[in-house]
Amino acid sequence: MPESITITDNRTGNQLEIPIAHGGVAASEWQKLLPGIWFYDPGFTATAACESTITYLDGDAGILRYRGYPIEVLAERSTYLEVAYLLLHGELPTAAEFDAWRHEITYHTYIHENVRKRFLEGFHYDAHPMGMLVSAVAALSTFYLDAKDIFDAESRRRQIIRLIAKMPTLAAAAHRFSVGMPFVYPDNSLDFCANFLSMMWKVAEPRFDANPTLARALDILFILHADHEQNCSTTAMRVVGSSHADPYSCCAAACAALYGPRHGGANEAVIRMLTEIGSFENVPAFVESVKQGHGRLQGFGHRVYKSYDPRAKIIKRTAEEVFSITGKNPLLDIALKLEEIALQDEYFTSRRLYPNVDFYSGLIYQAMGFPLEMFPVLFAIPRTAGWLAHWQELLDQDAKISRPRQLYIGTEPRDYVPIGQR
Ligand SMILES: CC(C)(COP(=O)(O)OP(=O)(O)OC[C@H]1O[C@@H](n2cnc3c(N)ncnc32)[C@H](O)[C@@H]1OP(=O)(O)O)[C@@H](O)C(=O)NCCC(=O)NCCS
Repeated sequence: MPESITITDNRTGNQLEIPIAHGGVAASEWQKLLPGIWFYDPGFTATAACESTITYLDGDAGILRYRGYPIEVLAERSTYLEVAYLLLHGELPTAAEFDAWRHEITYHTYIHENVRKRFLEGFHYDAHPMGMLVSAVAALSTFYLDAKDIFDAESRRRQIIRLIAKMPTLAAAAHRFSVGMPFVYPDNSLDFCANFLSMMWKVAEPRFDANPTLARALDILFILHADHEQNCSTTAMRVVGSSHADPYSCCAAACAALYGPRHGGANEAVIRMLTEIGSFENVPAFVESVKQGHGRLQGFGHRVYKSYDPRAKIIKRTAEEVFSITGKNPLLDIALKLEEIALQDEYFTSRRLYPNVDFYSGLIYQAMGFPLEMFPVLFAIPRTAGWLAHWQELLDQDAKISRPRQLYIGTEPRDYVPIGQR
């Protein structure tokens, strides 16, 4: 079978043969054959904006792979730092490469004292930690002026290491300031997640040793959140990156995209929803109200997954391990009941709405003691690896600047009327 489609232009009767590449039609072919005809695709539901070798996602089959490795295998056998290396370099590291990588990340966790003293401490006492993170990441670009040399391989490598290393430090700092606690410096003798937990929770003890089960659970959550191809924040990263802005400014834009409740804020919305439902018995009535159009079932549905989100399955297992240490989150029973009812209801099944990654992640974070405001921040830490992998790929591809078209639907030309005559 030829890999093309034939279309007829009814205005002229001409038939056009359009080649299909990788399951799609390239805009360059389309534009040659039908100049001046635009695709109208708000939300980019039918538009591939780039080629990528990083993450494979099949939403119908519920498959997610980073660089060819199934997410289930990585979650079970790998670590976040190794996955970050894989996303950025395309291959898993050798033992020597991993040691060097871990060393570099560990020794770039400190932030400049002025980021802390002049910048973070300048926020209002009740500032939202995600707002602080967005701003602090952007501010980093003013501390590393070499970041502008985006085509210098060594500079690019340095900024990537700095960003991955400093995100947990900024995240924990944002939390500490927002609750009036003093800043905790990174402890370079600890692993990535244990160090983050130390910066979050340490009080007066000389060394904070996180519970290893909780540190591992966080590491798994970080693996699951490290990349998800062209989601809203990664697209923001690519769009801003395509203008050749420095990586800190690009990451700040990506963080801002992640802040919204339709993206990184969804797990916070899940907890608020479960709290509002309040008890097991109220679940059927709540589901009914969603079906009547009063709000949405938070943590359900996905633009791409039209079956069970593979990350949600892994998270459900991780939740059990966390609850064995922290005690069960009282909202879990409501969540399980909600899932059970929704998965049997024609409204949800016919629309192919299944639990997504956020349905259970919030329950874990809450049981581990993280305040709701920290949830999008916890998402931003690992997603930084994915954002940077896409940023690097886009520069290597010498991608064009992102600049979509629009369909103008406003008024026709008209005369200006002076203000006194309107
Ligand atoms: C993720 C999300 C934004 C994807 O949206 P989308 O692909 O644009 O899908 P649409 O908004 O077009 O929804 C399609 C249909 O399913 C319904 N729907 C989608 N998600 C729903 C939900 N969570 N609860 C109830 N109904 C939902 C819509 O009302 C719509 O129904 P209709 O055809 O009768 O109008 C959406 O599913 C959502 O808002 N989910 C809740 C927030 C969330 O969990 N986000 C985290 C994503 S990881």
